[in-house]
Amino acid sequence: MHSANTARINGNCMENLKFYLLTDTHYFEESLGASGKAYEEYMKTEAFYMKESSEINKAVFKELKEDKETELIIIPGDLSKDGEYESHKSLIKELNALKDAGKKIFVLTAGHDYNEFGRSYNNDEFVQVKGTELKELYNLYYEFGFKDALSLDEETYSYIAEIAPQTRILALNCDSKKECKGLIDERLLSWAKEQLEKAREEGAYVIAMCHYPIIPSVPVFDLVGDAHVKNWREIASFLADNGVELVLTGHMHIQSINEFVTEAGNKLVDICTATTVGTPAKYRKIEIASNGRMDVKSIDVTGFALPDNFNSYEEFFDWRFDYSIKNKIRKILDGGNGVGKVLKKIGLRVLNSIKLGTISRILFIRIDKSLKEKKLIDFAGEIGTAIFKGDQPFVEGTSEFMAVKKALERFDFILKKVEPKFSKNGVEVDLTTMILNTIGNNKGYSDNNALINLKGNINL
Ligand SMILES: [Fe+2]
Ligand SMILES: [Fe+2]
Repeated sequence: MHSANTARINGNCMENLKFYLLTDTHYFEESLGASGKAYEEYMKTEAFYMKESSEINKAVFKELKEDKETELIIIPGDLSKDGEYESHKSLIKELNALKDAGKKIFVLTAGHDYNEFGRSYNNDEFVQVKGTELKELYNLYYEFGFKDALSLDEETYSYIAEIAPQTRILALNCDSKKECKGLIDERLLSWAKEQLEKAREEGAYVIAMCHYPIIPSVPVFDLVGDAHVKNWREIASFLADNGVELVLTGHMHIQSINEFVTEAGNKLVDICTATTVGTPAKYRKIEIASNGRMDVKSIDVTGFALPDNFNSYEEFFDWRFDYSIKNKIRKILDGGNGVGKVLKKIGLRVLNSIKLGTISRILFIRIDKSLKEKKLIDFAGEIGTAIFKGDQPFVEGTSEFMAVKKALERFDFILKKVEPKFSKNGVEVDLTTMILNTIGNNKGYSDNNALINLKGNINL
């Protein structure tokens, strides 16, 4: 039996590969406790929801259950809030219900899934709760990937499994050691190479998942160590040159799609998806046709009871992001002593009040009238939010792009001085281009809803 998605190509009967992709569920078992003064204090600088996370994720799972056409679900890590054992138990209950409804779920565990202790918040204090050891995750999530493993790397719990006829997922765990996060070392690469060679010999198509993005989500994240796997160009080339065209990632809580072409001309596409419990709060539905045409759709996380003081789900998620970022900045600029304290106070006042019009006068640059009354802190916030939502709108031709470009030109002599310090392994860094390509999506396709051509050769 073939569904409506069946296509006949060259006389072969081929079906599309369809799956849901959600990540960084950061599930927290609410009955552990999430209230009181210590909790409120903690949440001042937390960008995603904790107490509400189980309700939010349950709303997503309900939608997945209702879609009878799509049975595959892929979750690349950070399943629990911070490794609380009870959070895993509750999440697994939900995953089991999905399994009973006919879903096939493949997860990867990551840094937030194992911890000596978890934290809950009761009676104005934080309380240590039972954590989860890395090795416990194998048994806990046995039904959701490990059981179907054709091969398992016992050191990292990376695995390869069949997800559809002649189609495998290579789950590469780069986040199994707290002391070297984002690392895919030579040993793991040689295990992966063996698996990819075997898949090729057996005519199976392989897609990969990894918790950390392989390709930096936006150009400036290339300079941020924790924003991508270590030696990302090497890892991207390894995957693409060994037949992997697509990798599904998370960790950055960001919506991005990026392509990397190797020296040999092979392409890797990295789809990084946001957390379900913080802005921009999305999950994805992906369909790959046998001819390699990939249709990526992003779906807003909704469907849970919205608190009365919010008018929309977007407002609800954005508020938390905005509130936590502003508190983080305040924290950085708070405290100190003596001259440091005075300077920080002045810095905070300037940051909170200075307008773009004032900055343009200081720098002797002309900016569009519409921007002059905008506060720097609000402008920075808009850019930051746009980066995490993907499809950043500040492309060439917009007044925001021109304002940033002119400001960067004023600092050109400083940028040129620091650029060599950022250059590594012979890859030169051009900070101006990097920043301008970060505030505007110039890739020619959307980070949220895109049609992308893979080579395909999926033969279901
Ligand atoms: Fe995460
Ligand atoms: Fe993470």
